[in-house]
Amino acid sequence: MKAWRFVQGFGPENLECVELPSPKPGPGHAVVRVRACSLNYRDLVVAKGGYGRAVKVPLTPLSDGVGEVLAVGAGVTRVQVGDRVAATFMQGWLEGPPDDAKAATALGGALDGMLAEEVLLDAAGLVRIPGHLSFEEASTLPCAAVTAWHSLFESGGLKPGQTVLVQGSGGVSTFALQFAKMAGARVFATSGSDAKLARLRSMGADAMVNYRTSPDWDKAARDFSGGAGVDHVIEVGGAGTLPTSLKAVKRGGHIALIGVLSGSGECDPRLIFLKQVRMQGIYVGSRRMFEDMNRAIEAAGMRPVVDRVFGFAEVPAAYSYLESGAHFGKVVIRV
Ligand SMILES: NC(=O)c1ccc[n+]([C@@H]2O[C@H](COP(=O)([O-])OP(=O)(O)OC[C@H]3O[C@@H](n4cnc5c(N)ncnc54)[C@H](OP(=O)(O)O)[C@@H]3O)[C@@H](O)[C@H]2O)c1
Repeated sequence: MKAWRFVQGFGPENLECVELPSPKPGPGHAVVRVRACSLNYRDLVVAKGGYGRAVKVPLTPLSDGVGEVLAVGAGVTRVQVGDRVAATFMQGWLEGPPDDAKAATALGGALDGMLAEEVLLDAAGLVRIPGHLSFEEASTLPCAAVTAWHSLFESGGLKPGQTVLVQGSGGVSTFALQFAKMAGARVFATSGSDAKLARLRSMGADAMVNYRTSPDWDKAARDFSGGAGVDHVIEVGGAGTLPTSLKAVKRGGHIALIGVLSGSGECDPRLIFLKQVRMQGIYVGSRRMFEDMNRAIEAAGMRPVVDRVFGFAEVPAAYSYLESGAHFGKVVIRV
């Protein structure tokens, strides 16, 4: 079977498609025939060797992949041959609060990931995918969707009628927009592209602003919320956007700290305590959150936004496309 691997080191020149023996399941394991994978911003960081010392070559990249169970080992009752499954981002985070041991089990990071025709996984780290989704659609769920779900519903306790600010039109933000609308919230969206703002509007965004032409987008966000500020911010920009988010959020509001897209910057902590903002770091989520989310996706008939599907031979082109920032929603690789 074929797998894409960083063999000698990181960097695009070291990403190779190699032939490996098909895995055999031991007790508690399952072999999955992968049908589709999706890319996340994090995979660009891993590819550059920027994800810390725990991430070493040789490495099969990507956290996000789905397929069919090909074989199971002794004692496996959770899944059966033929089941359509996704791997959880952190294989060891099944439920409860995070800890160091759970955080050390991320696919395509500390552990080999999903960009292979066949993968060997702990059966406990698999979830069934929503029945109405294609493999390409379902491959977008493990990282970006679970992160958005965790931010809005577990951390944020989102209620119908509340306001949510989402930044940009990448994977996490388009899921957050879809989930917020499913829950009856009102959404304020930003993007650096007017064409993408029009697409966000067609997905249900109630108000929006171009963050390039209106860097003081906090004013429009406060106006949108009747002056007080928004209830929730899905903060994917990081240090460069957090000062503006702190002005946009309401007193006592919630900011889910997720990403680092805007690079470095300085943040004055005074607004955090003066406005009594609740800031919560989010690192994807548990298997239980993934399963709760899948039930909601199924009940709502929700479909992820797949921008482009690349072939298995086009993996380097898929990475380049994500890096260009031209995408809207998710970039997928068919395996
Ligand atoms: N903590 C976690 O568990 C977790 C999980 C998933 C992702 N993340 C992080 O969250 C961030 C987003 O990840 P992703 O996979 O959704 O990324 P992505 O799909 O690559 O989305 C990137 C998009 O973000 C927008 N963007 C870029 N710079 C921006 C800025 N300064 N302000 C506002 N929007 C900006 C752009 O949208 P427009 O073209 O519309 O402007 C860009 O297309 C990354 O930093 C990633 O590492 C963290």
